[in-house]
Amino acid sequence: MGLGKKTIDDENYAGKRVLVRCDFNVPMKDGVITNDNRINAALPTIKKLIADGAKVILCSHLGKPKNGPEAKFSLAPVAVRLSEKLGQPVTFADDDNVVGENAKAAVATMGNGEVVLLQNTRFRKEETKNEPAFSEELASLADAYVDDAFGSCHRAHCSTAGVTDYVKDTAVGYLMEKEIKYLGNAVNDPVRPFTLFWRRQGCGQVERHLQPAGEGRHADHRRRHGLHFPEAQGYEIGKSLCDDSKLDYCKDMMAKAKEKGVKLLLPVDAACIKDFPDPIDAPVDTVIVPVTAIPADKEGCDIGPESMKLFADAVKASKTVVWNGPMGVFENPTLAAGTLAVAKAMAESDATTVIGGGDSAAAVQQMGLGDKMTHISTGGGASLEYLEGKELPGIAVIQKA
Ligand code: 3PG
Repeated sequence: MGLGKKTIDDENYAGKRVLVRCDFNVPMKDGVITNDNRINAALPTIKKLIADGAKVILCSHLGKPKNGPEAKFSLAPVAVRLSEKLGQPVTFADDDNVVGENAKAAVATMGNGEVVLLQNTRFRKEETKNEPAFSEELASLADAYVDDAFGSCHRAHCSTAGVTDYVKDTAVGYLMEKEIKYLGNAVNDPVRPFTLFWRRQGCGQVERHLQPAGEGRHADHRRRHGLHFPEAQGYEIGKSLCDDSKLDYCKDMMAKAKEKGVKLLLPVDAACIKDFPDPIDAPVDTVIVPVTAIPADKEGCDIGPESMKLFADAVKASKTVVWNGPMGVFENPTLAAGTLAVAKAMAESDATTVIGGGDSAAAVQQMGLGDKMTHISTGGGASLEYLEGKELPGIAVIQKA
């Protein structure tokens, strides 16, 4: 499938001021970056622009600051990490206005091949409202715009979309290109047999965020898995969570699969617990029961061994596998068994294996199997929406090839 978009390989950016939207929304604890995969993923594009002799102006959001600047959401630690990885200084334009006097001065004194990182774009409240004035300010720093923030391209914000109303030279970066290629091919033209593990947001799981976003949200939220399909099939699900508003979706999916002759594999057994662990990785006792008979005082928190085999066999028989959504509460070692079984089957398979979605990527990395997969998406919500076939604003605004 052709990309249909201009890429950074279509131009030499020598001497140009290039604004690059990255997704540096990395997990942090006490000001320390705890996972830098997204920074690593941005390096190829940044290096190409440095090699061209561009003036590389990076921008990103971090977390969800509510009311403008908040020190804990500063991108300063990212500038330090980036500079270590690039082996050259990255000037952090410490400027709560993002495009205030400090940022303008930092950009004005840049030489070719130098790198500046702007402050968190969400320090400006206009960012998430996609207000033209801030888009224009961002654009005033640059001659060209490159979008390499796949994880944010489902947002129509100033730095991901609005800015292109004012900078007309636009392209996608290497990360964006790679994500579109792997996720796009998986959606549009998979080599078959094709297996998709799909946990639709808000349907397969019910999440309760106990921590504010940005404060270790990848590690500390308590995840509860809803058992919607078993409920929709009329089984007893005990204490398992279920959002009744999602049951029609499940019934619809089962009917559509039948109508289209698509094999819909649902778990046949479950690992159940009595009380949800607190902290999440505390020891738990599990009982394995058929999914048709979950005891009234128990909650299903992982798939059982029969389901693991069913799913692993499906992986073995496939030429393309896309996986979105862990099987259980993978942050708990006991309840990670189902997720590990699927991850292992994928790691051992010769199929093209694509991991989409933030939790699945975290699970695969946590299990040390990341380098065995063909592609791990850097997107969370963005990869879900892309796989659902939606047009994403951050991609739509980039000029055609
Ligand atoms: C993500 O982590 O999924 C992206 O960086 C988007 O973040 P957001 O949900 O805060 O827009």
